Amino acid sequence: ARKIIIDTDPGQDDAVAILLALASPELQVLGLTAVAGNVPLPLTALNARKIVELAGRPDIPVFAGCDRPLSRKLVTAENVHGQTGLDGIELPEPTVPLQARHGVDFIIDTLRREPAGTVTLVPIGPLTNIAQAFRQAPDIIARVQEIVLMGGAYFEVGNVTPAAEFNIFVDPEAAAAVFAAGVPLVVMPLDATHQALTSRDWIEGMRALPGRCGPAIASWIDFFERFDKEKYGSHGAPLHDPCTIAWLLRPDLFRGREINVEIETEGRFTTGMTVADWWRVTGRPANALFIRDLDRGGVFDLLSERLARLP
Ligand code: BDR
Ligand code: CA
Repeated sequence: ARKIIIDTDPGQDDAVAILLALASPELQVLGLTAVAGNVPLPLTALNARKIVELAGRPDIPVFAGCDRPLSRKLVTAENVHGQTGLDGIELPEPTVPLQARHGVDFIIDTLRREPAGTVTLVPIGPLTNIAQAFRQAPDIIARVQEIVLMGGAYFEVGNVTPAAEFNIFVDPEAAAAVFAAGVPLVVMPLDATHQALTSRDWIEGMRALPGRCGPAIASWIDFFERFDKEKYGSHGAPLHDPCTIAWLLRPDLFRGREINVEIETEGRFTTGMTVADWWRVTGRPANALFIRDLDRGGVFDLLSERLARLP
C-alpha cells in the first residue's frame, strides 16, 4: 500500500477525504496532522480525532500542527463549515487521544524513518505544516515521494477573493515555499473540484448505507451544500478534498498538465493566486501537475463503492 500522511483542517470535505482514504486498501494512512484553517487548530485537531473514531480506526494517530500561518493572521471559514468546522451532525467526544508530538515533528520523523521516496503528503488545508517541516528539516524534502494537494484556482474564480482559493490564500508564504521545493506536486484546484458536485441521489445513497459513516457523510454534506447553493446557485456541494484521494486511487479519472505554477504573495488584489502557466508562455520550468478536469461519474462511483465499506 502507498503510505500517506493527510495534513488537514476538517472540514466536512476533509472528513470525506479522510474516510475515503481509510476505506481504501491501496493506501496506508500513517497519520493525520491537523492545521489551522477552516476553524482554529483546537477544533481541527478535535474533528480529526472524531473522524478516525467514527471510522473505527483509533489506530490512526492524530497530531496537532501549526496554529497559525507562517507570517499572517489566521483567516477561518466558519461561514462555510459552521462554528465547529464540522457542523451537520453531532459526534461524541472522541476517546482517541491527541498525540503529544507536534504535527510538524511527526512529518519530519516519519520522512526520516521511512525509506526515501515512499511517503506521500496529502495536504488538504493551508500549507503551513508542510512548509514549516521543510523549513525545519530541509533534508526531508528530497525524501518525499509526492505531494498531492487541494488548493488553488485559475480558470475558475477564487472562492475567498476573486483571485484566490482558501487553502492558498490563508498561508500564501507557505504555499510559495511548497511550490518552490522541487517535490513532485499534483495540484487539485477549484477548476477540478467544482466539477465534483454531489447530487441529491448520491447524498441519499450515503444516508441509506447500513453503517454509521454513510448517514454522517450525508448530514455533513447537507450542511456543506447550503453555502455553495447560496453563493453560486449551484446544486450540490463540491467535494474538494476527496479529489486528492480519488486521484491517488484512480489518476485515470483526472486530466491536467505539467506546468509552472507560481504563488502570488504580494498582490494588491491577487494575494494567494495560483498563477498557472497553462499555455506555457513563460518558459519557466514545470513544477506541478495542474488538474483541470475530472470524470464526475467515475469519481462518484469510486466514492460510493469505497465509502460503503466503512462501519
Ligand atoms: C478548501 O477550503 C476548505 O474550506 C475546504 O476544506 C477545502 O480544503 C476549498 O477551497
Ligand atoms: Ca480542507
